[in-house]
Amino acid sequence: MIDEKQLAELSLPGAPRILTEPPGPQSRAILEYQAQNEGSAVSYARGLPMAVARSRGATQVDADGNIYIDMFSGAGVMALGGAHPEILAAAHAQIDEFTHTLDIPSQTREGLVETLKGLLPRELTRIFFGGPTGSDAVEQALKLAKWNKKRNGIIAFEGAYHGMTGASLAVTTDSGHRDGVGELVPGVSFVPYAYSYRNPFGCPPEETDLYAARWLDRVLRDSHSGVSKPAAVIIEAVQGEGGTIAPPPRFLQNIRRITQEHDVLLICDEIQCGLGRTGRMFAFEHSQIVPDIVTLSKALGGLGFPISAIAYREELNTLPPGKSIGTFRGNMTAFAAGKAALEYMVREDIPGRAALLGEKLLARLKDCEARSAIVGEVRGIGLMLGIELVKDKTTKEPAPALAAKVRTLAHRRGVLVEVGGHFNHVIRLLPPLVITEELAFKAADIIESAIGEAEKAGCL
Ligand SMILES: Cc1ncc(COP(=O)(O)O)c(C=O)c1O
Repeated sequence: MIDEKQLAELSLPGAPRILTEPPGPQSRAILEYQAQNEGSAVSYARGLPMAVARSRGATQVDADGNIYIDMFSGAGVMALGGAHPEILAAAHAQIDEFTHTLDIPSQTREGLVETLKGLLPRELTRIFFGGPTGSDAVEQALKLAKWNKKRNGIIAFEGAYHGMTGASLAVTTDSGHRDGVGELVPGVSFVPYAYSYRNPFGCPPEETDLYAARWLDRVLRDSHSGVSKPAAVIIEAVQGEGGTIAPPPRFLQNIRRITQEHDVLLICDEIQCGLGRTGRMFAFEHSQIVPDIVTLSKALGGLGFPISAIAYREELNTLPPGKSIGTFRGNMTAFAAGKAALEYMVREDIPGRAALLGEKLLARLKDCEARSAIVGEVRGIGLMLGIELVKDKTTKEPAPALAAKVRTLAHRRGVLVEVGGHFNHVIRLLPPLVITEELAFKAADIIESAIGEAEKAGCL
């Protein structure tokens, strides 16, 4: 396993370093240009107002020379951090040869398929590449499930995030994304996830996952539930945008058993929680189950190159040729970088490192939960951690303004975090898996002090 010293060489020294309170003048000018010329839906630049100039390992430099500790890695995309030399070399070598082939094969393509197949459970024999983004993989997975089962329905979970396009938006829950954009793809039903902190069943919190699984079983079993038998259930083994919710392994075990009993396919969306982030190569491995279809994207592009894929069982391989085509089904730079990234992850046991550092960071942040009047719960697994902020620990009233303030204060002090959760009240931590312990703990100190300051400022 790679050691701290080697990891430190991937990032810039001296982080965090704030020379000018962000956004400084250079960043402001670029942000202003963006505001005047790009679409009004631009999002991340509002919460983290900065213009990026450089990215190395778990550090980012803005246009004014400020150096940040990156605790978000571009929503989990940059799992191996910025400009990883080994991945960069693979990408450069590929760019010089060829970069686009539709789905016409090449050794580069074969290389990624082979590498992925070597990591996935052996039951998932087939890989299919979607368009360039995660939503495309979800579209493919849903289409494959519906085609095979000759049913239209899909069951997803409350708090789910699966994407922004047609069917992927329809299985995403956030009304902020869904409302006012016309009719969504029909046939989708939602059931409760195992969100024990906001347990919807009134049962002991540690039994929330059992009740949630039973709920799904009831919906599928009861002919009067109002839900026709679906083609598939789609689930994130660890919910990301929904507020970093990591149920116990038996939850997914029960969902797998129930879907099998009802002849419904199980799609595990590993776009955020997959590829090492939770301490295993795939988050469903914590439950020792094998899904029918798995979606992948984000970290699969090695250095943020666009790519998405699904992996599935042999018996589902029934789509006739041309039934699912598209121009961008093979960004060869992404394929080369992805293969190099996966090989590096295996060789250096990056998932193992994510597990070890994740445990330490979770314990560090749990201290913060114990000390703070407004940290309702710190949770997560591996390097996928969340801090749920509340106005009051007894009422658990969510504190979205406070979360936004913490993001701003942390940014000003040189740490990049994002918010998510059902009420936009959860600080989400998705650092590059190559972050050093030293940087991760510095970031934790800064986040804790930002929480303290936001609380004092009374922005509840
Ligand atoms: C679990 C999950 N599925 C799907 C998506 C959609 O991916 P993309 O934004 O690349 O379309 C995301 C994005 O955050 C995600 O977290």
